[in-house]
Amino acid sequence: MSEWTVDDVPDLSGKTVIVTGANSGIGFEATKAFTESGAHVVMACRSLDRGNAAMAEIRSDVPASSLSVAKLDLADLDSVHRFADEFAADYGSLHVLCNNAGVMAIPRRETQQGFETQFGVNHLGHFALSARLFPLLRDTPGETRLVSVSSGLHERGRMNFDDLHGERRYDEWDAYAQSKLANLLFAFELDRRLTASGIDDVSSVGAHPGYAATNLQVRGPEETGSTVRLLLSKLGNAIFAQSAANGALPLLYASVESEVESGSYVGPQGLFEMRGYPGVTEPSERARDPKAAARLWDVSEELTDTRFRLA
Ligand SMILES: NC(=O)c1ccc[n+]([C@@H]2O[C@H](COP(=O)([O-])OP(=O)(O)OC[C@H]3O[C@@H](n4cnc5c(N)ncnc54)[C@H](OP(=O)(O)O)[C@@H]3O)[C@@H](O)[C@H]2O)c1
Repeated sequence: MSEWTVDDVPDLSGKTVIVTGANSGIGFEATKAFTESGAHVVMACRSLDRGNAAMAEIRSDVPASSLSVAKLDLADLDSVHRFADEFAADYGSLHVLCNNAGVMAIPRRETQQGFETQFGVNHLGHFALSARLFPLLRDTPGETRLVSVSSGLHERGRMNFDDLHGERRYDEWDAYAQSKLANLLFAFELDRRLTASGIDDVSSVGAHPGYAATNLQVRGPEETGSTVRLLLSKLGNAIFAQSAANGALPLLYASVESEVESGSYVGPQGLFEMRGYPGVTEPSERARDPKAAARLWDVSEELTDTRFRLA
């Protein structure tokens, strides 16, 4: 097992990286590591206040960091389009797009366009963002990457195409698992379409952080008002979880390690893949199902009213 750490991130001078959900947890730690290695990072955050506070915190640790904060609410496709269009107008290149932001096991809510929020934010918002930014990734000289952050919980996921938004039956963990399976179906379908289109300088890679102590585990119980689940989540984070910085290593590895091929899945190599150094691993069989992936792609285009054109 290779002991790949943040010190192995290569020089990223001249590279531009977008991290969604950059103000917290894994996105925050990844942003710090990217910019410490010389990249310019656009921190795509749903709250400009939280984004600016996170940027100030990174700047106090890394004074030379090159960062900017931009508003991106993945629960609103208008915000997604605005962010992508402004980014494309302001920046001539995009080297790495980290689709990292997410919510987990929250009570049923809907996004601006009426999607169940976990499916809408974790998958559909990122699908629309990726489609809009793809021309820039494709046209940026050199190798570029799109990394989709999933979860070990994708293994529990089933694509319930007859009730994608949990209108008939909603279980907050099933909805999360479905959204994380969708992240990987998208990552691998994009890889297949890149190959079919003869595009070999854009890679699509999946990653998962194992179990890392972040805000992710506390948002759900905070929203449901479940004090028992909140307590258990905080205890679990304190006892079993690895740090957010270690949880960011698979995302970093997937984003910059030259040996990672398009279509790979990266995660921690230690105990039950919950912690440890990052490496290439295998997702569930369902995540590699090309039929489900093609169907999800079509449904995602339809729901988001987006054509994801590769050529
Ligand atoms: N931590 C783990 O153990 C673990 C395990 C498996 C997978 N993951 C995955 O890792 C990724 C990062 O999660 P994390 O653990 O770092 O959690 P986190 O600390 O809660 O960070 C999540 C980020 O997503 C942002 N976000 C939520 N809703 C958004 C929206 N509508 N639009 C834009 N941004 C939004 C959050 O913004 P606010 O701060 O404004 O809420 C925050 O910046 C997620 O995709 C998660 O599924 C984490």
